[in-house]
Amino acid sequence: MYSPRLSLIPVVCLVASFFRSVSAHSSPKLKTCVVEAACDGSDDAPSVIKAFQECGKNGKVVFLNETYHINSIMNTTGLQNCEIDLQGTLLWSTDIPYWLNHSMPVGYQNQSSAWIFGGENVHWKGHGYGTLDGNGQVWYDFNNGTSNYPRRPHAITIWQTKNSIFEGIRFVQSQMWTMTVIHSENVLLQDIYVDSTSSTKASTVNTDGADTIYANNITFKRWSVTNGDDSISPKANSTNIHISNCTFYKGVGFALGSIGQYNGVFERIENFTAEDVVFHNTLHAAYIKTWTGQQVGYPPNGGGGGIGYVKNVVLKNFQLNSVQLPTSITQCISFSSASGNCNTSLFKISDITLSNLTGTTTTDPIASFQCSAAAPCENITLTDINLTLTNGTQAYGWNCNNLEESIGFNCTGSTCGTASADGTC
Ligand SMILES: *[C@@H]1O[C@H](CO)[C@@H](O)[C@H](O)[C@H]1NC(C)=O
Ligand SMILES: *[C@@H]1O[C@H](CO)[C@@H](O)[C@H](O)[C@H]1NC(C)=O
Ligand SMILES: *[C@@H]1O[C@H](CO)[C@@H](O)[C@H](O)[C@H]1NC(C)=O
Ligand SMILES: *[C@@H]1O[C@H](CO)[C@@H](O)[C@H](O)[C@H]1NC(C)=O
Ligand SMILES: *[C@@H]1O[C@H](CO)[C@@H](O)[C@H](O)[C@H]1NC(C)=O
Ligand SMILES: *[C@@H]1O[C@H](CO)[C@@H](O)[C@H](O)[C@H]1NC(C)=O
Ligand SMILES: *[C@@H]1O[C@H](CO)[C@@H](O)[C@H](O)[C@H]1NC(C)=O
Ligand SMILES: *[C@@H]1O[C@H](CO)[C@@H](O)[C@H](O)[C@H]1NC(C)=O
Ligand SMILES: *[C@@H]1O[C@H](CO)[C@@H](O)[C@H](O)[C@H]1NC(C)=O
Ligand SMILES: *[C@@H]1O[C@H](CO)[C@@H](O)[C@H](O)[C@H]1NC(C)=O
Ligand SMILES: *[C@@H]1O[C@H](CO)[C@@H](O)[C@H](O)[C@H]1NC(C)=O
Ligand SMILES: *[C@@H]1O[C@H](CO)[C@@H](O)[C@H](O)[C@H]1NC(C)=O
Repeated sequence: MYSPRLSLIPVVCLVASFFRSVSAHSSPKLKTCVVEAACDGSDDAPSVIKAFQECGKNGKVVFLNETYHINSIMNTTGLQNCEIDLQGTLLWSTDIPYWLNHSMPVGYQNQSSAWIFGGENVHWKGHGYGTLDGNGQVWYDFNNGTSNYPRRPHAITIWQTKNSIFEGIRFVQSQMWTMTVIHSENVLLQDIYVDSTSSTKASTVNTDGADTIYANNITFKRWSVTNGDDSISPKANSTNIHISNCTFYKGVGFALGSIGQYNGVFERIENFTAEDVVFHNTLHAAYIKTWTGQQVGYPPNGGGGGIGYVKNVVLKNFQLNSVQLPTSITQCISFSSASGNCNTSLFKISDITLSNLTGTTTTDPIASFQCSAAAPCENITLTDINLTLTNGTQAYGWNCNNLEESIGFNCTGSTCGTASADGTC
């Protein structure tokens, strides 16, 4: 039960931030902790951590309509039956040396995070205005286009989370990837707003909207993502991922992968569905990418030689507005300076269906499918595709290599056999 609001509002601004623990009347076990922001802008992270320690099991953590300054890392995991009521903004500090020294490993590539969060039966409500603000512009300027800058922090990592709901949360100016759902199962994320936009010439590379890794049965509904990289991206061992009613601006669109980065390691993406999605000025609608069969260098920017499969992918009811290359497969991903080896990947791509794609695309072709000769793609269906170029001409062209069983289309040419993401040669 929620305690009366009035009694929770501090009468004076406190110098040191703290939280209040309030026992609810109805149940002796349900506790509510209200996190109070320090008024001098000092670090509120210790109070947040304390609130989760106190009320993270059979309790509720409340953030008021205030700005909380997060100047240090947070690891709030192992929550149970916890409700989070986020009414204000968590604003991350811009102390780049601090974050580069302290961001926490997420257990995939060398990726790291500012906040590791997780538990079972967690229900996080942001009401459409509760916000995580990563203060990302300083990171975009500092990073200036570098791929996977070591220890540049992700905004939040949802780790070991089960049977949980995240809703109505806004993520603005994420430092790097916005959110990774990892080692998690049965999670619903709905009515989520993501906007990572640079106000300078520095790019927003690696500002993925959401990534899933070692995750099963994850549902995304009604997301709006504006960013400069993968809009939503299932990566290693993502199974039963369901997405609907999303709108993506400017990023890559759906990016399945990259996958197959770890030599000899088996990974898969299976049962991925996405429907009722609108794309505005994205690079692709759907993109599947695997590393080559030859390892060159090490993750995050090098690797290759992984095995496994991507299968049972159903994508439908996509509205495209000025998308560059609607559908793409490449098995050519390799270390930045390496090229070729496009026919070596043993990673198998099959059972992909795209249907009912309408709208506009900026250039031909409609599809560029660069599959590996060592493991050809199989059973790819494209039906009810009605795309026009922005000048009104019907879009045309299906460039393929090593594709067995195309349904609803015939390949009209070859891809250029390079790793270029936009399909240009
Ligand atoms: C939060 O507070 C600000 C001003 O402090 C106010 O403008 C805004 O409407 C409040 N938001 C909500 C959701 O109460
Ligand atoms: C976060 O805390 C949990 C529980 O104490 C611990 O198991 C885990 O290793 C911590 N993660 C990091 C990255 O520090
Ligand atoms: C950012 O990178 C671009 C080229 O990628 C370069 O021209 C520019 O000078 C760099 N800016 C800074 C501040 O380093
Ligand atoms: C998948 O997760 C949802 C919650 O998002 C849950 O309702 C559903 O029962 C789960 N499905 C399976 C097969 O466990
Ligand atoms: C998407 O939203 C529309 C309108 O609310 C709804 O009719 C449709 O069922 C939704 N799609 C899915 C897959 O939930
Ligand atoms: C991915 O899932 C497969 C099948 O469950 C498992 O064999 C493999 O070890 C997992 N890979 C990783 C890297 O965890
Ligand atoms: C994928 O979906 C099929 C059909 O519903 C199911 O039989 C299979 O077990 C699912 N795969 C995984 C990894 O859950
Ligand atoms: C095709 O997708 C559009 C949304 O992009 C939807 O309005 C329309 O109903 C879909 N058509 C069919 C036959 O499902
Ligand atoms: C082709 O892939 C679709 C899923 O995209 C699947 O439903 C269908 O059964 C597959 N067909 C064959 C012959 O495997
Ligand atoms: C394809 O889309 C165009 C433009 O939206 C429309 O005029 C045309 O009737 C559509 N064709 C079919 C076969 O649906
Ligand atoms: C539209 O652009 C395409 C590709 O540039 C070109 O082939 C076509 O002739 C143009 N159509 C019109 C009507 O200008
Ligand atoms: C593909 O080519 C075959 C053989 O020429 C033809 O029968 C079929 O209708 C074509 N399919 C499409 C979708 O154009």
